[in-house]
Parts: sequence; C-alpha cells; structure tokens
Amino acid sequence: MAVDFMYSEKVLEHFRNPRNMGEIEDADGVGDVGNPKCGDMMRITIKVDEATGTITDVKFKTFGCGAAIATSSMVTELVKGKSLQEALAVSNKTVVEQLGGLPPVKLHCSVLAEQGIVAAIQDYYAKHPEKTPPPELESKAQYLEKVDPHGWPDGDQ
Ligand code: FES
Repeated sequence: MAVDFMYSEKVLEHFRNPRNMGEIEDADGVGDVGNPKCGDMMRITIKVDEATGTITDVKFKTFGCGAAIATSSMVTELVKGKSLQEALAVSNKTVVEQLGGLPPVKLHCSVLAEQGIVAAIQDYYAKHPEKTPPPELESKAQYLEKVDPHGWPDGDQ
C-alpha cells in the first residue's frame, strides 16, 4: 500500500529556510514542549511589548522532524506582531492550512507548534501576575493538555 509522504512546496520551503530560528536571550516568555512518543522538542521564546501586549519578537528552537521545523517556522510568522490574545487564536489547523497541508501522519507535529506558543504565553503571564490573562488562555491550556500528540484526530483539526 502506497503511503503519501508528499510535502507541499511551502512546507519544504520553510524547512529549508526556517524563519525566526534561535532563542531570544532576554525573553519575556519561554515555552518548552515535547512529544513524549517521538522525543521531539521545541522551545518558543517571545518578547512582549508591555504597553500594548503585542508579541514584538518570537523565535524557535526545534529538535525534531522536518514537519516540526516547518510548523515552528510558520507559527512564529503567524504570531509575530499579534496581540497575545490574537496569538492564542492561532491553532494547529491554521498553521497546517498556511503551509498548504501536511501528510496525515505528520499532522500531530503541528500540535507541538501550537503548544509551544501557548506555553510561552502561559510563562509570560506567570512572570507578570499583575496582568490579567485573556480568558482563552485557561481553556486553551486545558485543551492542549488533553491532546495526545500522536492521537490525531483528537487535536483541533
Ligand atoms: S515526528 Fe515528532 S513532532 Fe514530528
């Protein structure tokens, strides 16, 4: 039985030329997430404008598969310049759509990208208890805890 491992041009382009790769030294929020089954790991660091609550910079470090790298790259592009609330609305489905799709067996990799952003935003609010997090943060964090990264389609598809 043939298995479709075809990647879109956009996925391959982000894999070859990842955007926003690296780590922000004095990050305002750090999100460390990992997939316990494949062992892939991702760190997302964000810089947030205090006054406006806008993500002014975001970087990723991903030790993982090509799809994890491409989705990391895309998610950083999607949240950069957005408010924290807007960034929470970026789902793994959005990331996959913007990449022109992923092979079904690699869809779970996009969940890691979404989790990384949520974890970084959670960390930002943990470090800034004086700020009120958007109501979506708690439900999003709870939702992501329930997602088995290899259990697609339990994720937001
Ligand atoms: S195989 Fe682990 S995130 Fe892609």
